[in-house]
Amino acid sequence: MPIFEVRGVSFCYPDGTPGLNDVSLYISQGECLGVVGPNGSGKSTLLKILAGLYFPQKGEVLFSGERLTEERLREKSFRENFRRKVSILFQNPESQILFPTVWEEVQFGLLQMRIPPEEAQKKSKEMLEFLHIEDLKERHPYKLSGGEKKKVILASLLALDPEVLLLDEPTDNLDPRSASELTAYISKLSQRKTVLISTHNLNLVEKVCSRVYLLSEEKRVEAEGEPGELFRDRGLLERLNLIEVG
Ligand SMILES: Nc1ncnc2c1ncn2[C@@H]1O[C@H](COP(=O)(O)OP(=O)(O)OP(=O)(O)O)[C@@H](O)[C@H]1O
Ligand SMILES: [Mg+2]
Repeated sequence: MPIFEVRGVSFCYPDGTPGLNDVSLYISQGECLGVVGPNGSGKSTLLKILAGLYFPQKGEVLFSGERLTEERLREKSFRENFRRKVSILFQNPESQILFPTVWEEVQFGLLQMRIPPEEAQKKSKEMLEFLHIEDLKERHPYKLSGGEKKKVILASLLALDPEVLLLDEPTDNLDPRSASELTAYISKLSQRKTVLISTHNLNLVEKVCSRVYLLSEEKRVEAEGEPGELFRDRGLLERLNLIEVG
């Protein structure tokens, strides 16, 4: 059974702008899936729907075979289980910052999960070291650069060891070394977790994803398949505005 199944989902923002148009897709347990599409094709909208933050007006989303709805998420046990298992990294990590220091930010989720403080500190320290951001420990997350912010939020999510990671443009804003370190890490991570990456970075998808969905400007699924194979179709990529024409 897929861990997520999206069936005929359409979503419209309150101002009437369509966010997704009749999208169907699935994510299998343990796979590393890519979602690629031009600006405004609905990638971020899709990730927020999968994270149970938006609810489609049409179609349905299943998580481990159960319908993911606003009503279900109001149930404490369902919500806690879902939130523990599924983490999302927003495209704009600023909206995920809650605390005045990086150190508190990274520990917060762990403490909220009632992990003993000593263990939470140990885990947070490991994650900061892992992402090479120990030096930022006492800094205010708001006052960091875009890439630094992304690493801080990523550290706080990874510390929780979720089963499913929804990563919205994870390499955006990262310098080449950080991007390639993160790519290597995601590749390692995907051996034991389910990962969904939304990105414009076709290289990243080719390196780490076993399957990819291509979304169009009409916010529909245009194609699905193995990245190496799909990306050979230059005409398709040009038509979808995923590579420069020429
Ligand atoms: N809060 C919002 N209110 C109204 N419309 C929105 C809102 N957020 C996104 N949209 C619209 O929904 C559509 C899909 O946007 P979305 O952010 O999901 O695209 P995306 O594929 O993530 O784009 P990008 O590559 O630029 O990150 C776009 O037409 C966008 O203008
Ligand atoms: Mg986006």
